[in-house]
Amino acid sequence: MLYHRERWRHYSVRSVFRSRALAPSRALVPCILVSIAVLASGTGSILEALIEAGLPVAVVLVDRECGAEQIARRAGIPVERVVRSDFGSGFERDAFTDSVVAALAGYGVALLAMAGYGTILGRSIHEAYPGRILNTHPALLPAFKGWHAVDEALAAGVPETGCTVHIATLEVDAGPVLAQEKVPILPGDTAAALHERIKAVERRLYPATIAKVLDQGLVLDGCSHCDQRRQE
Ligand code: GRF
Repeated sequence: MLYHRERWRHYSVRSVFRSRALAPSRALVPCILVSIAVLASGTGSILEALIEAGLPVAVVLVDRECGAEQIARRAGIPVERVVRSDFGSGFERDAFTDSVVAALAGYGVALLAMAGYGTILGRSIHEAYPGRILNTHPALLPAFKGWHAVDEALAAGVPETGCTVHIATLEVDAGPVLAQEKVPILPGDTAAALHERIKAVERRLYPATIAKVLDQGLVLDGCSHCDQRRQE
């Protein structure tokens, strides 16, 4: 299902008001302005799919110069580059995470969507966006966690792998699963060919799942307006 920008706006407003029969109250207004940040480090094809689906991407945050940054700029979306220069054992993960939190703070986003983001972030991002960080992973979690999921699935000789959209937690690739889809491994597959077929599925499954979360996300944890609605 695609959500074009115009349609998204109506969709959100309708969802906000569906139980209130067009009775806007000041307390509900921030939910109408729901928007997301996308975190990326790679070519950005997943980011592009999120933008093309009309999701309300307010900012794209990257940790290096990458294709995703160009895609965001072409779409007129603000880019925050918090550069990771240390990939060694001395990497100050907590300080880096604090910089990411600070870079995003001014955008007022309701949700973070990681789309091929190459840095594992520390506790402060989870405190800033509790239960509101999503990730797409190129394997059927809990199988093949981590950065080399596609190579490992291929090396394991399993007949199928796939992708998983899940809520990111401090423990990597271990959060609650929101959606999964299988992708068969074909005879003679290479890691690149298999990853591209997985990404083709991610480009459909991730936007659809985020749209669903944002809709129900009018009841996201940590949003005081939504928490209030849930208690009504
Ligand atoms: C996706 O397979 C995602 O699951 C993984 O990195 C890839 C990102 O691809 N974490 P792209 O850079 O958006 O093309």
